Amino acid sequence: MTANASERLLQHYVDNFRRLPWRSAPGTPPPPAYRVWLSEIMLQQTTVAAVTPRFERFVTRWPTVEALAEAKDEDVLSEWAGLGYYARARNLIACARKVARRGGFPETAADLRSLPGIGDYTSAAIAAIAFGEDAAAVDTNVERVVARLHAIDRPTRAQIEQLVRDMLRSGRAGDLAQALMDLGATICRPKNPLCASCPIAADCAAFASGIPERFPLPKPK
Ligand code: ADE
Repeated sequence: MTANASERLLQHYVDNFRRLPWRSAPGTPPPPAYRVWLSEIMLQQTTVAAVTPRFERFVTRWPTVEALAEAKDEDVLSEWAGLGYYARARNLIACARKVARRGGFPETAADLRSLPGIGDYTSAAIAAIAFGEDAAAVDTNVERVVARLHAIDRPTRAQIEQLVRDMLRSGRAGDLAQALMDLGATICRPKNPLCASCPIAADCAAFASGIPERFPLPKPK
């Protein structure tokens, strides 16, 4: 069941992926880790629509992690203005300097995880998208998609990560991560999911239940 879901989702991504400035087309060389990292940090609490123009300005000004490492703190902070959460910008500067000093980004999720501002989700996303590691990048959107696929009321992060690992196809971890993100953003929305347009509705236990929105249940506070 999930085998087919994974293949259908990947094909849907190939046919419909959002052409965002930090992405490469499926089947072409991956984007530089610098662009993947920067976009993931910007997207942590800000929408794709708000991030897109700011990402373009940022990489025009500092095209590489080495350039960013040499920027003045105040210049980076003022370029960040309006994106909010200054802790992110502070971590961004600290991370860029560490990466430049060590001669580039580490290439595994485990090593990326030790950098400032990079947690479980972001390390897995960079490893999968930029380096092709079979890593499961699970944020709240991916958690919702996968919880619905299996009609899980109260998923744990570890459970969802295992289910995403079961969906991995050789060499396609980056595509799978971004396919799940796109599905969560555009079709498998928190409210009013567009199941009629979903490439994996036929595999989806929440859809079969007739009440897809009900999964997962809100987290207890
Ligand atoms: N949200 C978080 N990461 C993203 C990405 N790489 N593309 C689109 N939306 C995202």
